[in-house]
Amino acid sequence: MSELLTGHAKAHTNIALIKYWGKADSNLILPTNDSISLTLDEFYTETSVKFRSDLKQNILTINQKQQPTDKLKRVNRIIKHFSDMWDGPKFAEITSDNHVPNSAGLASSASAMAALAGATMKATQTQLSLKELSSVARLGSGSATRSIFGNFVHWHRGHDHDSSYAEPLESPADFKINMLTVVINDQPKRISSTNGMSNTAQTSPFFKEWTNTANQAIDEMKQAIRFGNFSKIGEMAENNAMQMHATTLSSNPPFTYFEPDTLKVLQIIQQLRHDGIECYATIDAGPNVKIICQNNNLKQIKNSLLDEFNENQLIVAHMGPGIKIY
Ligand code: PMV
Repeated sequence: MSELLTGHAKAHTNIALIKYWGKADSNLILPTNDSISLTLDEFYTETSVKFRSDLKQNILTINQKQQPTDKLKRVNRIIKHFSDMWDGPKFAEITSDNHVPNSAGLASSASAMAALAGATMKATQTQLSLKELSSVARLGSGSATRSIFGNFVHWHRGHDHDSSYAEPLESPADFKINMLTVVINDQPKRISSTNGMSNTAQTSPFFKEWTNTANQAIDEMKQAIRFGNFSKIGEMAENNAMQMHATTLSSNPPFTYFEPDTLKVLQIIQQLRHDGIECYATIDAGPNVKIICQNNNLKQIKNSLLDEFNENQLIVAHMGPGIKIY
């Protein structure tokens, strides 16, 4: 019987090319704009969920460290979503291993919440399509919606729980793209993405324009992905990231996730492009820069960065797979 109450899943992180930035419904985590991402092979979370009838609350261990129960709000939500649907135990022991290099400075909530949703679905023997599972992962973290699928993924903002889901996007079979992360600061961010989004939505006069522009960019980005148009994907991703960060600078009070080294990397990228080496930047709610590039330029890009940064600050990731549930 006990094996019937157990489920495992492995999900990879993703980096958005058109960012999710703004909530239309903060309880259901419905975004104000559609987003498109790339799932990465290097960084992933493996999670086991075991329902136990002797538990009075969920227990979460991440990388062998038990987490304080007041940090489990979103985890509890996902467990409850599934356990409300069955007559079995209501609480589970959750063990999670984050394979995000210690110093990567990358958020693991996307892979963590996607893996948790997958493992809990298995443990409760619930039958959901991957599309439906992506909606449940969304209840844990917006970006987790997209980590159910591999490669390029589109999250439809929707207007209620069921209509806000992710789906994979087709790209040419031989099309390859890399993300080179430049780790500038590996400490947790000072302003969470949730707070950053709500500050900008409430006070930046550019927020509405950001939302419209991001939504309008979706079809063009999908087209670029369908045809494997690397230049278009890179240009649009960089533009979109800068537009998102412009909403932070135009907030009241203003803030930024950039650090001096963030600008340094942006300048190196601009210089490389000037010299004919194609590469583009994207930046999330933190100072680290992810460089979008192709294999043939990787070595030269790394060499330019090594003038200013150490080898261990540079992490290369490629396109990664969708969730595995077992
Ligand atoms: O899923 P959250 O709440 O961590 O928000 C993610 C926000 C960004 O990383 C900045 C953009 C995105 O689409 O992933």
